[in-house]
Amino acid sequence: MSEPTLFHLEDGYQAWLGYRQIAPGERYDQYAFYTQITVTEQDGIMGTAVTELAQGIACMLGRQPEISEHSEGVPCITIGTFGNNPMVDQAFGMDIRAAIGHEGYGLKTDQENGCIAIGATSAVGILYGVFHLLRLFSTGSPVDRLDVVENPVNQLRMINQWDNIDGSVERGYAGKSIFYADNRITTNLPRIQDYARLLASSGINAIAINNVNVHQFETKLITGEYLPDVVKLADIFRAYGIKLFLSVNYASPLEIGELSTADPLDPAVRAWWCGKAAEIYAAIPDFGGFLVKADSENRPGPFTYDRDHADGANMLAEALKPYGGIVIWRCFVYNCKQDWRDRTTDRARAAYDHFEPLDGRFMDNVILQIKNGPIDFQVREPVSPLIGAMEQTNQMIEFQITQEYTGQQRHLCYLVPQWKEALNFETYNKGVGSSIKRIVDGSLHGNPYSGFAAVSNIGNDANWTGHLLAQANLYGYGRLAWNPELTSEAIAEEWIRMTFGENQQLVKVIRGMLMDSLGIYESYTAPLGVGFMVNPDHHYGPNVDGYEYSKWGTYHFADCHGIGVDRTKASGTGYTGQYKGDNFARYESLDSCPDDLLLFFHHVSYTHVLHSGKTVIQHIYDSHFAGVEQAAQLQAAWSSLEGSIDSHLYEQVANRLTEQAEHAEEWRDRVNTYFYRKSGIADQQGRRIY
Ligand code: GCU
Repeated sequence: MSEPTLFHLEDGYQAWLGYRQIAPGERYDQYAFYTQITVTEQDGIMGTAVTELAQGIACMLGRQPEISEHSEGVPCITIGTFGNNPMVDQAFGMDIRAAIGHEGYGLKTDQENGCIAIGATSAVGILYGVFHLLRLFSTGSPVDRLDVVENPVNQLRMINQWDNIDGSVERGYAGKSIFYADNRITTNLPRIQDYARLLASSGINAIAINNVNVHQFETKLITGEYLPDVVKLADIFRAYGIKLFLSVNYASPLEIGELSTADPLDPAVRAWWCGKAAEIYAAIPDFGGFLVKADSENRPGPFTYDRDHADGANMLAEALKPYGGIVIWRCFVYNCKQDWRDRTTDRARAAYDHFEPLDGRFMDNVILQIKNGPIDFQVREPVSPLIGAMEQTNQMIEFQITQEYTGQQRHLCYLVPQWKEALNFETYNKGVGSSIKRIVDGSLHGNPYSGFAAVSNIGNDANWTGHLLAQANLYGYGRLAWNPELTSEAIAEEWIRMTFGENQQLVKVIRGMLMDSLGIYESYTAPLGVGFMVNPDHHYGPNVDGYEYSKWGTYHFADCHGIGVDRTKASGTGYTGQYKGDNFARYESLDSCPDDLLLFFHHVSYTHVLHSGKTVIQHIYDSHFAGVEQAAQLQAAWSSLEGSIDSHLYEQVANRLTEQAEHAEEWRDRVNTYFYRKSGIADQQGRRIY
């Protein structure tokens, strides 16, 4: 395998693994101490761990550490799985070892000789421990008294690439695919390896490498034509502890097999998939499994044969089961050909209505992957009521790191606070204490499989994510999947220190910008949880009625009297009835519905008074004027850092913030003008509305 590439510091290519050289001084002296790495195992992932550690230390200290099997009596970092390195065994008592799970690790400083031991039950645990130690070095944290035990809270910590084999990326905002070009799998494997490093360093352990919309050529990824190249990708990810998954086309037996049906109950179809699984596992023995988008947005699925999703998923699960593989079945299923005149069909209801009745029918190696909200990754949505509603079914949450509806990496939008809000949401599914995070970590229902998935935000742009600061979302997702208790601020701060260094003022300014960004974006886009109002297809920029008379099921119903979707049981679509316990009453009643979701749940007049004391119309005006001012403040905050950041990096972000400030004005004027013209109600402050 080629050496990881460490270049382009000025482009942001190294992201948070730049490992800036530490200037001589107090902190340098603390770490410079470590001139030796002792390790007795060097195969596979252990080899990766040693390379990463040696390389990181060499970059930060400007000196290559010695690697040996035994300590030469100098302060060292000793790493090893339990039972294979006497120094590691000595550092960790049996009780500590017992507390370290498969992917967990311990870090311990020996107070007498200063040596640091990293111990784990598996090589991948060591790799995570190494990245932890490097993070401490690169964030200037003390290492003289380490006594750490870490285990990931979530079992699956997965990334979904929406990459197509022609090199395009569905909803990609950072260039083309790093995986594919011209209907072939890339030969630029060092770049894939660099991506694997970024992912593993933040705790990711699974990746589906192709778009959930599986088109003609991608359907053949599971055939001899492409499998040898898929194997090469799997090898790279394996060295970083990341399992490879493929999105598959439900109609494969028809499209690439000789069959005339894809009916999940047809014995020939079942046999076809079993043969396919055998072929894949012969090539990739630790293949993760299949990710499936079926009967959704025109993708084929079991409905064609009058079968349900359990029939469909179980057929694939049966084929993968002998090899330990899993089926990840997406719940993004709704009628995408709705008549906009039909007020009874509610897209928000769809996932729950389709899947909840199937509880208990899925095999134990099926996981349902459910988007965090019931619609589609809007800046503000309630949490999907399906998550946790199926006690006997494995479930995982799906987030979107790529900023499809949150500014497309042209606007700054740090998403970790949004994800945390969803994770902390109390569902009451098993009474108080049934938060989303306890459902997706498997603890509430005791599920064998569970976890996080998210749509990646990277492409072949030099800095990976287009907007340099959008790297914080990729990093933050991994860290949050590892431990949902980490705060948004702490994650932001880690990322800033690792990426930009330790200038206190810089850390403070960027952290402030990140933490404010979600609220700012929300304030100048669609108001009070109503969603969309974007241009059709590409979804960028304001268009209040862009989807109002379309088939996609996302409406705001604004007229001259009011706005919002009545999703109550009493008078609307009944969606509120999918929530349990206090949540139902809270959303059902106009009095208790939170302001920020008001228009998601209720249709109200423009003069309806919010809990904030403002009318709906005045809120719309105020938030849009304020959002534009705040977007300009982001620009000003960033310009205060000119000179303290590499000029290339500075410029990259400055340009995006300029664009954001301009587009925020466009949003403000379109939205405010629209509602002024509809309602005829003037702004109390008499500001300019067109
Ligand atoms: C959104 C997105 C699509 C994507 C779909 C999905 O609707 O716009 O591009 O395919 O989500 O999650 O499957």
